[in-house]
Amino acid sequence: MVTDRRSSRDIMSFNFVKRIIFSAAAVAVAVAAIPPPNPEFFEITQLSLPPAINTTSVGACTASINPRRTGCIYYQENYDFQSGDFTPDGKHVVVSVNFTGAPAAPDPASIYSGAQVILITADGTNFPNGDSWKCMSCAVPTQNKQSLDPVIDYPHVFRSGTKILWGHNILDCNGQPLADESCTPTRTHIYPIFWPVSTNAFAAGGSPREMRLHPDDTHILWSSLSNSGQSTFTGKLQFNARPTNGSLRAPRYDLIQVNVLARANSTPAIYADGNQIKINPQPLSLGELRGWSGNGEEIIYLGSNVEANNVDLYAIHVVTGAIRRITSHPEYADPIVSSPDNRNYLIMDTRGSNRQMWMAGMRGIPPIIDIVVTLLAVSTRNNGPRRFFQPILLDQFGDRSDIDYYGQRINTEGDLSNGSVNDPNWNGRADAGFSLDSTKIVYWQALVTSPACGGVNPLKCPASTAQGGSNYRVMLAKRTSRAPTRPVPVFKIPDIIPWATPFPPGASVPVDKTLAPGDYTLYGKAHGFANVTLTSSSVAIRYSNFSDDYRHIIDGYENATSSVKPPNYYDVHVDWFSDIFQSGAVFGTKKTSPGGFHAEIDAFLNIFSANGSLTTTINGVEYLQPLNFS
Ligand SMILES: *[C@@H]1O[C@H](CO)[C@@H](O)[C@H](O)[C@H]1NC(C)=O
Ligand SMILES: *[C@@H]1O[C@H](CO)[C@@H](O)[C@H](O)[C@H]1NC(C)=O
Ligand SMILES: *[C@@H]1O[C@H](CO)[C@@H](O)[C@H](O)[C@H]1NC(C)=O
Ligand SMILES: *[C@@H]1O[C@H](CO)[C@@H](O)[C@H](O)[C@H]1NC(C)=O
Ligand SMILES: *[C@@H]1O[C@H](CO)[C@@H](O)[C@H](O)[C@H]1NC(C)=O
Ligand SMILES: *[C@@H]1O[C@H](CO)[C@@H](O)[C@H](O)[C@H]1NC(C)=O
Ligand SMILES: *[C@@H]1O[C@H](CO)[C@@H](O)[C@H](O)[C@H]1NC(C)=O
Ligand SMILES: *[C@@H]1O[C@H](CO)[C@@H](O)[C@H](O)[C@H]1NC(C)=O
Repeated sequence: MVTDRRSSRDIMSFNFVKRIIFSAAAVAVAVAAIPPPNPEFFEITQLSLPPAINTTSVGACTASINPRRTGCIYYQENYDFQSGDFTPDGKHVVVSVNFTGAPAAPDPASIYSGAQVILITADGTNFPNGDSWKCMSCAVPTQNKQSLDPVIDYPHVFRSGTKILWGHNILDCNGQPLADESCTPTRTHIYPIFWPVSTNAFAAGGSPREMRLHPDDTHILWSSLSNSGQSTFTGKLQFNARPTNGSLRAPRYDLIQVNVLARANSTPAIYADGNQIKINPQPLSLGELRGWSGNGEEIIYLGSNVEANNVDLYAIHVVTGAIRRITSHPEYADPIVSSPDNRNYLIMDTRGSNRQMWMAGMRGIPPIIDIVVTLLAVSTRNNGPRRFFQPILLDQFGDRSDIDYYGQRINTEGDLSNGSVNDPNWNGRADAGFSLDSTKIVYWQALVTSPACGGVNPLKCPASTAQGGSNYRVMLAKRTSRAPTRPVPVFKIPDIIPWATPFPPGASVPVDKTLAPGDYTLYGKAHGFANVTLTSSSVAIRYSNFSDDYRHIIDGYENATSSVKPPNYYDVHVDWFSDIFQSGAVFGTKKTSPGGFHAEIDAFLNIFSANGSLTTTINGVEYLQPLNFS
């Protein structure tokens, strides 16, 4: 547990953070300094799950493993485990699991089989049957769950406490609190969410993913990938008991009043004005959506980079369209949840791991090279299923480079040993959750497994110390220095988002203007300029005394060429040459090896593979790229 302010807010013992802080300090921040919050204290415990077993054979979940015969789960997480957030009383957490080893029917234990959604207790108590979990979906009669959607990720409890968003389905306990004995399987229905335009990845709406519910329990947001990139949407859930149209003729929730979060002819993040390149500080350019602010007033998303290769989270107000940058640290964040009192975020971030510093560590480079390297920059954050994420608590104002505030890592307690709270081999996954009174945080982690360790990988595979050798765990962090707060009243969001575009069936996604190939100049906001040459697949930039803030002065050269491999539009190859020199507040270099840096990565597999090197050095501290396959 940390006691002094500086060490706690600077994410404990990672010396590099302090170095980065100095380099970060001067990047233009227009707001007056908002002081950092006092560091908080956390009590962290692991929550119980159904017993884990290491075989999937029928009947493997025996009475000696689970005497109450209420199921076992497989010890390895295969993208079929996810914990979500709390019930409104803060006593339970919703979790998606995959039960395995159940006996065959008609054994009553046969219902604890396959992908299900459960509640686990978060207050040390048990359900009346003695279990610390209750399966919410297992015994639901077939007629109450027709045509379930196979997507069952990101489980989330409605504020009402009587429903669960379970991927693209809604489990509804007919008005009963989920954990209550009155919430029985026969009272429970599970309804699919239906959007007529989402027939496949190449339909106009693409295939929806990552649905997140607004605190009004009615509006919802999601992202869709298609071969033309990612689009983002909001909509409204409307129950349809007897559908008379569409391909799905079972009771369902229709997505109505859909908005695509884009606008025709909006000014892109990077645009041409004659032969100048300009950067729009408030672009309507929403990458993957991550959720809502605590009261649902803002949408939180991965935005267009503001600094080269530095991927960050932003918030946009649902009515005014005002945009705020939440993170600015060079490392990578994407999972984020907001506390219901709107005072904090919990992000999962690679800060502390040095994972991304080799490309993003130099502050103050404009995001021009990102036109061709963003897919690479977002993909190197993981090694396959191995994340480098740790849970970081940020206050409502987010990272503040001007005062060196980059949040507080919450799980610093422990001796780094296998299985300890701060064991670096247990890495954060999405999503975390706050209790409604904001005093508790739940997050989950997965342990690195082969081939992300062992074999050619220099990291030895750790043995799991979790029950059953499980490689995932759910952690509860009590904010012991924090008094309960009331949630901020839920923001009434309009069905039609004023700055977005209605997206009824048949509509198409507005497309941003692309930059025409050619030679351009980008002027620094403080001084200097950059000569930019664009082709359809490459960017070349020569910086001359370039600075946006008088403190980070960039000189030198950088170019990159990228190509994808259809039909996989997410498998990218990049050839990159850099020789950049930074002076001013810090001295830094960003350099490739003489033959250049050549990397290939599939954004869905995240296996780093490169020839040559790209290295960033800041005030003498050298940041190296990952080794191939690690
Ligand atoms: C599976 O689990 C059992 C019981 O814990 C253990 O004895 C066995 O060694 C495990 N097998 C493997 C392959 O890990
Ligand atoms: C659940 O695990 C089984 C193996 O036990 C696997 O075949 C199945 O695909 C998994 N289900 C999901 C939804 O991942
Ligand atoms: C399908 O039916 C619903 C509910 O009656 C209605 O709101 C919707 O507009 C209909 N959609 C189409 C494409 O006709
Ligand atoms: C963790 O486990 C691995 C493999 O089981 C072992 O090699 C290593 O020494 C352990 N580390 C610590 C810090 O106990
Ligand atoms: C680079 O831009 C500057 C400023 O616009 C211009 O004077 C110069 O000619 C450009 N250099 C090249 C090589 O295009
Ligand atoms: C860079 O620009 C600043 C501000 O205009 C000027 O004082 C300085 O001399 C320039 N440096 C070089 C190397 O041109
Ligand atoms: C990038 O720079 C390298 C080294 O100077 C050069 O060989 C290559 O042609 C350049 N590529 C582009 C697209 O400008
Ligand atoms: C690295 O070089 C090898 C041998 O030339 C080549 O097969 C491989 O595709 C290259 N990898 C990348 C990422 O450029």
